[in-house]
Amino acid sequence: MRIAVVGSGYVGLVSGACFSDFGHIVSCVDNDASKIASLNAGKMPIYEPGLAELVANNVRQKRLFFSTELKTAVREAEAVFIAVGTPSRRGDGHADLSYVYQVARDIAGALEGFTVVVTKSTVPVGTGDEVERIIKEVRPDADIAVVSNPEFLREGAAIEDFKRPDRIVLGVEDKRAEAVMTEIYRPLYLNQAPFVFTSRRTSELTKYAANAFLATKITFINEVADLCEKVGANVQDVARGIGLDKRIGGKFLHAGPGYGGSCFPKDTQALIKTAQDYGAPIRIVETVSAVNDQRKRAMARKVLAACDGSVRGKTIAVLGLTFKPNTDDMRDSPAISIITALQDHGALIRAYDPEGEEQAKLVLNNITYTKDPYECSTGADALVIVTEWDEFRALDLPRLTGLLTKPILIDLRNIYDPAEVRRQSFTYASIGRS
Ligand code: UDX
Repeated sequence: MRIAVVGSGYVGLVSGACFSDFGHIVSCVDNDASKIASLNAGKMPIYEPGLAELVANNVRQKRLFFSTELKTAVREAEAVFIAVGTPSRRGDGHADLSYVYQVARDIAGALEGFTVVVTKSTVPVGTGDEVERIIKEVRPDADIAVVSNPEFLREGAAIEDFKRPDRIVLGVEDKRAEAVMTEIYRPLYLNQAPFVFTSRRTSELTKYAANAFLATKITFINEVADLCEKVGANVQDVARGIGLDKRIGGKFLHAGPGYGGSCFPKDTQALIKTAQDYGAPIRIVETVSAVNDQRKRAMARKVLAACDGSVRGKTIAVLGLTFKPNTDDMRDSPAISIITALQDHGALIRAYDPEGEEQAKLVLNNITYTKDPYECSTGADALVIVTEWDEFRALDLPRLTGLLTKPILIDLRNIYDPAEVRRQSFTYASIGRS
């Protein structure tokens, strides 16, 4: 199969690289010429484990190409994937579909022969209809089928998730398109990955329902964690106790500082807006979103409490800035709200993140960046773990006691055992555990 992927961001790049690894000939297109130039030089625009090797291998095999030439890529393709961003629209929280619709216009002129146009971007219900309308408006003679194929990969585990998905959801309403999509995903089909064939609108909604459900699960356990702190219970044991029930499942029950990232915050907002527009508000998701927003700043209050009620003039060492480990992505990271709130209370911030420093500099001000957790802690009055990078899981605690002015550890990811840390004479605060 010849495939064009328009948009070389997280989803586009990973999908393109994986499709080429399945044996297809893939052109990844982006209108950012510098991004394409650096991809052609083997430099990845994002940090994602295994991606650089996967890309290099498929480029070497002449199956994967990067280009700014949308028209050529589309003309040759049997399937065109739209994988551009759908950020929150300023002001109203709706998904901003201007990039998706612009791509629809751009590809319309170049289509040749029967072409399947696939929306891989997360798009609200009805977007596929509009993409089809736009293409037909520009090219009434175009022979196309518009398909919805949402992507469920997680950052940091993107390649594994793409190649071993829990399911593939396909909103296809055309027999020829069904055959093309089955061929594209043939290796996963042979691996017996479940395929959910459904209508285009159902497929579009499925993606939002999945993300909103996961965000709800996280928010539920976060609020249970707050109650645990009040009543002297342990949230990790509660999570295990409920998660072993197969109807609930143990995943996404890690209490923490609130969810962030490029998907959950914007997708919950977009679902809320769509549901309100259609007069079927999903109130549980409205609450989830509001609770999660408040939670991030509430985490700063936890730090204040551990520092005897005030951080004014104190130096706080922060470990982990990205919204989760194994990525350099800072989008909607809880660290942003937490650090800003601490700065508002007069704290000076030292920080260390294994991959996120460059991105963090774009969204945070007045931070002293350091090379490792120990340099970060030197002379600081408290240490806060915000993101659970593996390298923070086995810190040399006795060494830290010597570096911090006072041994105070606030662990917002519950990666330490409270009893053990206290044995090392730390003042220790975590989430939902006493
Ligand atoms: C998410 C979805 O998982 C993925 O299917 C979708 O395609 C995109 O959005 P991602 O944003 O990469 O993926 O990260 P994920 O691992 O889901 O984490 C999202 C946020 O939730 C992070 O801030 C993470 O720290 C938080 N989280 C996750 C928790 O606080 N507790 C948990 O138990 C799980």
